[in-house]
Amino acid sequence: MILNFAHRGSLTEAPENTLPAMEKAIEHNVKAIELDVQLTKDNRLIVVHDHNLTRYNKKTSGFIKDYTLETIKKIDVGSSFSRRYRGITLATLEEVLEMLPEDILLNIEIKNKPVAYEGIEDILIDCLHQYNRLDNVLISSFDHDALKIVQKRAPNIKLGLLFNQKFFKPWEYARNCGLTITSIHPNAKHTNKKLVTESHKLGYKVYPYTVNKVKMYNRLMDFGVDGVFSNNPKIFAHSANTTEK
Ligand code: G3P
Ligand code: MG
Repeated sequence: MILNFAHRGSLTEAPENTLPAMEKAIEHNVKAIELDVQLTKDNRLIVVHDHNLTRYNKKTSGFIKDYTLETIKKIDVGSSFSRRYRGITLATLEEVLEMLPEDILLNIEIKNKPVAYEGIEDILIDCLHQYNRLDNVLISSFDHDALKIVQKRAPNIKLGLLFNQKFFKPWEYARNCGLTITSIHPNAKHTNKKLVTESHKLGYKVYPYTVNKVKMYNRLMDFGVDGVFSNNPKIFAHSANTTEK
């Protein structure tokens, strides 16, 4: 079964990672959504990609980690996307969990570089526990030490090995790190048929990022990937290859 992820919600249609972006993704009937999490100054999980706020609101500066949730909730991150989204603010992970249908798989990417958030893994696990969401999530991060901490705290949680470099045998790397992963999340540029075939032989799913054009999507489907991350969920419906394998 193909499992495609709306990347940061549906970021071409609404401000990335916000509740409207999640709503747009849901309208596309996606079965999975990816989002990024960081911590505010007062240790609240906030759904946001960049470590500083400038791209979302030019009048602000500084890092997410320097703002309390109360202050962040006063910052408009919608106007920079379009006037229609004026007043939209960043969402907490709790807010997303409250609105997200239970059957949608949530890929939570811990953004722990370059700003490192001490304790983010525990805060995340506690939150997922509170929302009874430990089963239907997939945790990933470019910070593989963060994944190790998650694994130690919640050994049954699904982990995805996210990486940007060319890896010869990512599963060996994961094993050497002591990580038990369920999926491999390579950059689409570095994904080829050999990687997919070998991953499948060992039982790993392969979800490349970020795939925004139908041509590239079909190419990766021909390699046999299990799904992709896309900024543009429309490609999932327009492609001929979205049915069960
Ligand atoms: O998890 C896939 C993708 O989200 C990783 O890159 O920078 O868009 O978070 P980025
Ligand atoms: Mg991400």
